[in-house]
Amino acid sequence: MRLLVGVGGLLLAQAANAQDVIKARQAEFKEFGKRMGAIKDTIIDKKGGTLADVAGHAEYLVSKLPQIPTWFPEGSDKGETRALPEIWLNFPDFQVKARNATELARVLLAAAKSGDQTATVQAFGKLGQEGCGGCHQPYRRPEK
Ligand code: HEC
Repeated sequence: MRLLVGVGGLLLAQAANAQDVIKARQAEFKEFGKRMGAIKDTIIDKKGGTLADVAGHAEYLVSKLPQIPTWFPEGSDKGETRALPEIWLNFPDFQVKARNATELARVLLAAAKSGDQTATVQAFGKLGQEGCGGCHQPYRRPEK
């Protein structure tokens, strides 16, 4: 971002704004990570909590996952971000990935609500691998 210093107020304002957008979406994703961690604690590591709690987290994910594409305005790959430029080259596919993840979160929600432990574990694994992972793999830069 330092590179933009002196190029003009407008660009600077845009740069600052892009970093705000990036920070805000990273906070949203962190919350996703927390929710998935809480679900894992309950159904995999048996650290307590109930399937009703899992359903609550799944409900949160179902409501939030469809919003992901709105967190990626053009130009928001400039800054401290792991978002890859491919997102904007294939935006319709990026949207499909968000929809897939939402569908898989819906399956998890239904399984948790039904009280079926095995189906819940299965749906959780699928959401993590195909839903979250299915988008991270092509569109998120690996951690350094
Ligand atoms: C449609 C694409 C997509 C889906 C679906 C998706 N993510 Fe991400 N996720 C990204 C991208 C792109 C980034 C990088 C954002 C950035 O650095 O600006 C990211 C970043 C993250 C981060 C790092 C946030 C940080 O601190 O910088 C976490 C944690 C995360 N995602 C968790 C999840 C979880 C859990 C799910 C599933 C419930 C999920 N994501 C679903 C695209 C997606």
